[in-house]
Amino acid sequence: MSQLIAGNWKMNGVAAALSEIDALAVSLTDRPAACDVLVCPPATLIERASHVSRNRIALGGQDCHAEISGAFTGDVSAEMLRDAGATAVIVGHSERRQYHGETDAVVAAKAKAAWRAGLTAIICIGETEAERDSGKANDICKSQLAGSVPDGATSANTAIAYEPVWAIGTGKTPTSEEIAQMHAHIKAHIPAGLRILYGGSVKPANAVEILALADVGGALVGGASLKASDFLTIVRACRKSS
Ligand code: 13P
Repeated sequence: MSQLIAGNWKMNGVAAALSEIDALAVSLTDRPAACDVLVCPPATLIERASHVSRNRIALGGQDCHAEISGAFTGDVSAEMLRDAGATAVIVGHSERRQYHGETDAVVAAKAKAAWRAGLTAIICIGETEAERDSGKANDICKSQLAGSVPDGATSANTAIAYEPVWAIGTGKTPTSEEIAQMHAHIKAHIPAGLRILYGGSVKPANAVEILALADVGGALVGGASLKASDFLTIVRACRKSS
């Protein structure tokens, strides 16, 4: 399966930022990507982004509620994201787990909601720095997988994103050996064929090395996805065949 390069804009971007998606789509029209390309802007921009993505860039949400509709002020359902033009949604990002108290069970329910709406669920896991320092990274990730990935996950409906919390927005990354080791560990605990994305300070300067690693099925990119030129460099770093 080809790699997936996904951008997570987090809470960044108003209408002016659509020019970045437009510029990316133009570049990918001139020279198509060798991988799948996904941008997850704020939910408010998904529908407008769909008018400039030129079928070169898939669009996704950054979170969804587990229910279809109801009295959940401020929440957005997977069906609403789909209606706006999304084909995927990130669930269980560490920022959701940390700032919104999302448990593995909540994340699993959101992943099922994504499937119900016909979206691909990108389920995030990853250890904190203290957990890695105390030698618990493997156990933490295994337990997050067991709790967050529902039965029925397939390569068509799910990708896993391994995002060590201490690597997010810090400029720090695990070594290539550590990434390869963890991806092999994750692979051993999920259904066959699921893409395993690496996320955490992926930049134009390190993308080639990270994307060349065994069992790395793509990248989930935060800060470096906000500028089309940086994100395009990462997209161009994907493996040509895998
Ligand atoms: P950065 O690429 O900014 O470290 O963010 C990673 C991330 O959290 C993507 O979901």
